[in-house]
Amino acid sequence: MKSNLNDAIEKVLIPRSEIEKRIAELGKEITEEYKDKGELVVVGILRGAAMFMSNLALSIDKNVGIDFMSVSSYGQSSESSGTVRILKDLEEDVSGKNILIVEDIVDSGRTLNYLIKILQDRDAKSVKIATLLDKEDRRTSYVKVDFVGFKVPNEFIVGYGLDYAQKFRNVEDICVLKKSFYEKEI
Ligand code: IMP
Ligand code: MG
Repeated sequence: MKSNLNDAIEKVLIPRSEIEKRIAELGKEITEEYKDKGELVVVGILRGAAMFMSNLALSIDKNVGIDFMSVSSYGQSSESSGTVRILKDLEEDVSGKNILIVEDIVDSGRTLNYLIKILQDRDAKSVKIATLLDKEDRRTSYVKVDFVGFKVPNEFIVGYGLDYAQKFRNVEDICVLKKSFYEKEI
């Protein structure tokens, strides 16, 4: 843990060494899954998946395309509509390609439920999901998560790409944020 970031952290859930070991395993699973399946593009969801995406792509033993999307996180108001706004779309056409969406954490599942539909509508050959973290208890929208790094409890998590108000993304371990810090900030 970087000592200058300690103040806001309640506890370390998963240290960087374990995260990286697990990502290497996921890389092997993904390599095996797509061995004979043609073109694969990994699609990172900005910005939370940046660290996971880089490390995961480096762990895949196959030529992969790399692309990114950025989507709006919805507030209370947009919850009922269930739609997610695309802030930055893919650079490349996905039709006929295997797409692996790479996400930092699956919470309600709404973001991925929507993204899968969009990419299927664009005639991707297949759409699968790899997420670093899965907050399973919070799921309200069905989403089949194909590759999971770690299941995590229903607490607010930061680090290894995940933020609170755009902070703590470069905390190297996956951590629980202190409630007092969170309350002080709002
Ligand atoms: P979902 O559509 O509810 O599954 O939203 C998932 C998104 O919410 C993730 O991509 C994160 O950006 C954000 N998120 C959910 N839980 C956490 C958390 O504990 N820490 C940081 N971001 C989170
Ligand atoms: Mg996100």
